[in-house]
Amino acid sequence: MHPVTRSSARLYLRELAITDVDSLLAIYGSPASTEHLSFEPRNRDQVEQVVAWSVAEATVTPRTEYALAVVESETAELIGSGRLALDSHQQRGATMGFALRPDVWGRGYGVEMVRLLLSVGFNDLKLHRIWGARSPLNEASAKTMSAVGMVEEGTIREHVLKAGEWRDSVVHAILDRKFFRCP
Ligand SMILES: CC(C)(COP(=O)(O)OP(=O)(O)OC[C@H]1O[C@@H](n2cnc3c(N)ncnc32)[C@H](O)[C@@H]1OP(=O)(O)O)[C@@H](O)C(=O)NCCC(=O)NCCS
Repeated sequence: MHPVTRSSARLYLRELAITDVDSLLAIYGSPASTEHLSFEPRNRDQVEQVVAWSVAEATVTPRTEYALAVVESETAELIGSGRLALDSHQQRGATMGFALRPDVWGRGYGVEMVRLLLSVGFNDLKLHRIWGARSPLNEASAKTMSAVGMVEEGTIREHVLKAGEWRDSVVHAILDRKFFRCP
């Protein structure tokens, strides 16, 4: 599916464009934003490569990568990034990733953004299961995923190699029927 657009009260999702590199650098180049992510802060060239790859992947058929810009409606500024990656080893399943620029944290945007991503996954892509993996120390992510009904399922041991050290991940997931509030 391309292009993806979805909006909520204060945010909307749209496809990434190569002109988004500097806005994304404010997130992926930030030590605060990447503290609990699987990679070290990225430089401009690295962010540009990721954006170019995401833009190219967006028009591949069948599409498996949905790297989307999270935009604040009032300012039209890119303030975050959200990703759904369809899992080739699981029918109608995807992993989710998300991050916001640090200066907008704590306003409820995290929950709003993750709800939008789930809505793309379940309403547009007709997925059955969406999951995310967080660092055990990432309390903000734990609360954000719990707030949208993503249940903590367990720990993947030594899942991520960061700065030369293995790190566990805690998995949160939600099924379509829970998202649509079916019994
Ligand atoms: C995770 C993230 C998106 C949350 O965004 P946010 O806009 O601050 O979140 P919200 O304002 O919607 O708050 C969501 C919940 O998290 C809690 N929270 C937010 N920041 C927190 C913090 N630093 N410590 C503990 N709890 C926190 C809020 O209190 C709220 O909980 P509640 O529903 O129980 O009140 C943001 O911190 C971020 O981008 N972090 C860096 C990237 C990242 O870690 N991504 C997740 C990868 S798994």
